[in-house]
Amino acid sequence: MFTIITGAQFGDEGKGKIVDMLASQYDIVARFQGGDNAGHTVVAEGKTYKLHLIPSGVLFDARLLIGPGTVMNPKILMDEIAMLSENGVEVTPAKLGIDAKTSIIMPYHVALDGLRESKRAVKIGTTSRGIGFAYIDKVGRDEIQMADIADGKRFMQRLAEIAPQKENAIKELGGDTGIARSGVDEYLEIGKKLKPYITDVSKEINLALKLGKKVLAEGAQGTHLDIIHGTQKFVTSSSTVAGSACASLGVGPKKVDKVIGVIKAYITRVGEGPLPTEQKNEVGEHLREKGGEFGTTTGRPRRCGWFDLPLAGKSINLNGYTGMALTKLDVLSGLDPLKLCIGYEIEGKQLDYPPELSDDIARCRPLYIDLPGWKEDISEVESFQELPENARLYIELLEELMGVEIEYVSVGPGRKQTFIK
Ligand code: IMP
Repeated sequence: MFTIITGAQFGDEGKGKIVDMLASQYDIVARFQGGDNAGHTVVAEGKTYKLHLIPSGVLFDARLLIGPGTVMNPKILMDEIAMLSENGVEVTPAKLGIDAKTSIIMPYHVALDGLRESKRAVKIGTTSRGIGFAYIDKVGRDEIQMADIADGKRFMQRLAEIAPQKENAIKELGGDTGIARSGVDEYLEIGKKLKPYITDVSKEINLALKLGKKVLAEGAQGTHLDIIHGTQKFVTSSSTVAGSACASLGVGPKKVDKVIGVIKAYITRVGEGPLPTEQKNEVGEHLREKGGEFGTTTGRPRRCGWFDLPLAGKSINLNGYTGMALTKLDVLSGLDPLKLCIGYEIEGKQLDYPPELSDDIARCRPLYIDLPGWKEDISEVESFQELPENARLYIELLEELMGVEIEYVSVGPGRKQTFIK
């Protein structure tokens, strides 16, 4: 069985938690795109693990894979392996496989990301992790891959070829050109340590599927941050939609059995870009404070707003969800009435689907319906039936309007705080 999980909004929907919950039922959990711009929080047995690169299934027996469509900062990976080891979780080569072709984030990618962003008149608000510049090198065929850092000679040859143009690029942006050749010894050292982890991810997954095993592809960021279909230019540099899992992991689309969309009971966005239902008021404050809406990777406060159905509808199209996981329902407790954005108005016209261009989305005025809220703390609720009536109504209405079943509901960060609807 092959299941793909993606974020249906702008990231931070709680994918880590849902993957952690499902991981015990899977043999393999694989990351297919993005890098350490992602921040997946997993809370288990009273401990909070903040992961950026290692797939969220790490706390179970599943084999973990980092696919060739990701961009990987090896220093961050080593830190994560060490952090997990300190907490009694050993990430050995039997546990984790990294594709030989995984793009490596070099110090110059991080520097260029920061320099370029500082020069942009209209900022994107990147996570400053070098993600975009690592992907530029991938499509420009100037990347350094996992297999290169594991082989000292290849790494040095590749760097000698690439470094001069990096020096030029850094100089042009007013940075320190020394960065272009920095960190070499450390990367060589890490390359040696990571060599035993190298694998062919596509081969492993296809073999596992042939043997009847279960594979879960874990997306990072969210649908509307997709490089092709998202709200450009305020997007990340990889394809975050479900189809990207097939292309990036090297698995044919006919192998896909399930596509699960993780969606929050409201919406958040970190960084710049349109967010029609954003609430810059006490409602936004409530969602941010109660929902702990501060970036896992950057600590930035997230922008918060009401649930946006037009954007959800577009996500359903882009991903072909077979089911949804609705997260953070508990955060809505105490808000009354609840507003649900069912369409937009732009230039006197009403829309039930987002316009394609970011500028147009930014000009849309959300059209809301009011729904009755609930006051009860629902964070201990363990079944749909136990929820207050208005919470049940909210879920059922979302389900009806989205036309996709909500399979899971989560009411808090802990493992026990998710139930099957
Ligand atoms: P980058 O991916 O660092 O290049 O950042 C591009 C945009 O994507 C920025 O608006 C970031 O805030 C956003 N972004 C990147 N990763 C995440 C994530 O994991 N969650 C939410 N937003 C993200």
